[in-house]
Amino acid sequence: MVKINREGQGKKGGMINFVTSNKGKYAEAQAILGDLVQMDIGYTEIQADTLEEVAIYGMKEVALRLKGAVMLEDAGLFVQALRGFPGVYSAYVQKTIGNAGILRLMEGEKNRSAYFKSVVAYAEPGMQTMIFSGEVYGQIGFEARGSQGFGYDPIFYVDGMSLAEIDLEKKNQISHRAKSMRALDDWLHKC
Ligand code: IMP
Repeated sequence: MVKINREGQGKKGGMINFVTSNKGKYAEAQAILGDLVQMDIGYTEIQADTLEEVAIYGMKEVALRLKGAVMLEDAGLFVQALRGFPGVYSAYVQKTIGNAGILRLMEGEKNRSAYFKSVVAYAEPGMQTMIFSGEVYGQIGFEARGSQGFGYDPIFYVDGMSLAEIDLEKKNQISHRAKSMRALDDWLHKC
């Protein structure tokens, strides 16, 4: 029988497994969805043109390995002046050239517009995979600022503050991830 969702539980009951190695992502998701089980089990992140393709492929893999409700999230930073780079390559670019490398690529560039996008894939046994997404628009700063958050947060600015200068509660009022997770939460609460 399908049940009404309680905090951190799937449609059919049972805790939701969030497959991620990223403690920052987990904390942001948990603040919205309630208690989740963090599963740091890794999965194949294919090279594809969209975050949706990466998330759907990853979900096919993890749904075979885990029982019950499963979710994973793929995110990326899309910089307008760099024609959407790093986009789907965000994890690799963060590991290699990092925030300093993005600031270098943006030297002398007046158009600083950028956005983050988050795509969440969610599945339960016997149900088709659901996809939810969210975006936040901002600017690439001229310097890295702040020590909170993770990844590109210190160089991504909204209303004059980098996402690393605001706490989790404030980030969760505006972020791409907060929007995708809230969309999932709304869907879970619908019968
Ligand atoms: P993935 O979703 O873990 O593949 O993230 C891709 C890259 O974007 C990683 O380097 C993350 O650290 C970075 N990233 C994802 N979400 C955020 C965010 O909310 N703020 C800053 N960087 C992020």
